[in-house]
Amino acid sequence: MSENTMQKRGMTKPPERIISAILIFSLFLCIFSCLPSGAGAIETLSCQNLVISLGGNERELIFSWADDQSSGKTALREAGKGSFIEYEAATSAFGAGYIHKTTVGGLKSSASYEYKLIGADKTESEVFSFKTGSPSKYSFLAVGDPQIASAANGRIWRATLSAAVTNFPNAAFLIGTGDQVDNYRGNSAFEYAEFFSPGELHSLPTAFAVGNHDNGLSLHAKSFYFPNTAAVGPGATNFDFWFRYGSTLFMVLDSNVSDTEAHKTFLDGAVKANSDAVWKIVIFHHSLYSEGPHSVTADTKDRRNSWPFLFDEIGADLIISGHDHCYTRTHMMKGNKIAEEGSGTLYITLNSSSGSKYYDFAAAAPAAYSAVRGQSRAPEFSVIDVNDAELTISVYRADTMKMTDTYTIAKDPVQTGTGTGVAAVSAAFLAAIAAAVFPDAVRSSLTAALTRTSQLIFS
Ligand SMILES: [Fe+2]
Repeated sequence: MSENTMQKRGMTKPPERIISAILIFSLFLCIFSCLPSGAGAIETLSCQNLVISLGGNERELIFSWADDQSSGKTALREAGKGSFIEYEAATSAFGAGYIHKTTVGGLKSSASYEYKLIGADKTESEVFSFKTGSPSKYSFLAVGDPQIASAANGRIWRATLSAAVTNFPNAAFLIGTGDQVDNYRGNSAFEYAEFFSPGELHSLPTAFAVGNHDNGLSLHAKSFYFPNTAAVGPGATNFDFWFRYGSTLFMVLDSNVSDTEAHKTFLDGAVKANSDAVWKIVIFHHSLYSEGPHSVTADTKDRRNSWPFLFDEIGADLIISGHDHCYTRTHMMKGNKIAEEGSGTLYITLNSSSGSKYYDFAAAAPAAYSAVRGQSRAPEFSVIDVNDAELTISVYRADTMKMTDTYTIAKDPVQTGTGTGVAAVSAAFLAAIAAAVFPDAVRSSLTAALTRTSQLIFS
């Protein structure tokens, strides 16, 4: 080999190696850029509108999502424990793609789970996680009227849910009182994409009522799961539903349907199927007692002549509504009047959770039914803490986390069963005192003390 040749080869070898190395590196980069981190040779499933809906009770959840796959599965396991168990989805065609729903039951309380979605072509989503609550003592979040019409509304909606979950990470689920989207511009696909955009909806079970703006929208009907439904209107989307969480019976009404008898049939059936429920909470969109412009319409005034009596009949404790884009907490109400001390139902109307619209009060002075009214002109959300003895609703501004109202309803201990137990124990002690050999003075003191204790518990 001549020196010239060597020089020539010496000059050409390094660029060839570099080019080869670049080509090989590019090939690997191309292959691995399609892989989710740590997921092996599997492409990432691209899905939209992923949301978890509450099932019929605290042990059941429904996962729903949209993609371009003709079938789907949810794979779930307790966080870090064992293999994923796969659940086949019910799939239906929607537009150019598909919507999938998977029902998962038998969930444990106070546990952490992780799940992923799997497409027909074996592609997988990222792994999401959620926690289950403790049904004997739990909190849930409530929001009113996101009514998303713009990207700006979506941004505030995401901030509201972020603030709610960051400050109340143990909330077991989220309820919404309807008007998830605006749809007056006929752009519900974009609006729903914004509505489903918060990552919190991938980890927080939900139950959303239908509002007047959602009414009849196929994306509402296709995106959420509703357990224990009862048709109450002519449309495929017009139905009531109920679910149970611990000792609370939640009944969600489609208030676009004003058929009182249909709602009564549903409410009676739900209560009959849950005769041991301690708390009864009813959720629907069109508030009966609020302070905004909807509070003085003929429709609202007309409903006040019938709907409150339905709730009196079933012994509802709390009604949560929206629609009027301002906050109102009533006095305890019964028979469309302020109730006597120690009885009645509390009605709460929630303000906007996205800031898309705030309504001014309809009148300068509060209505007679109002205990508290507020228009913060800031996105708000509520936290409801529940145990068998008390239910407390607290309302927060999402932008400052200032609490704007809080109120507690105490349950009569006799109704909860706690009182029955205490009464039985008290009677047994009184009998034992009477039967035992005590000096009269000691017997008298013991009897008086126990009687006074019982009076304090039951008063
Ligand atoms: Fe509304």
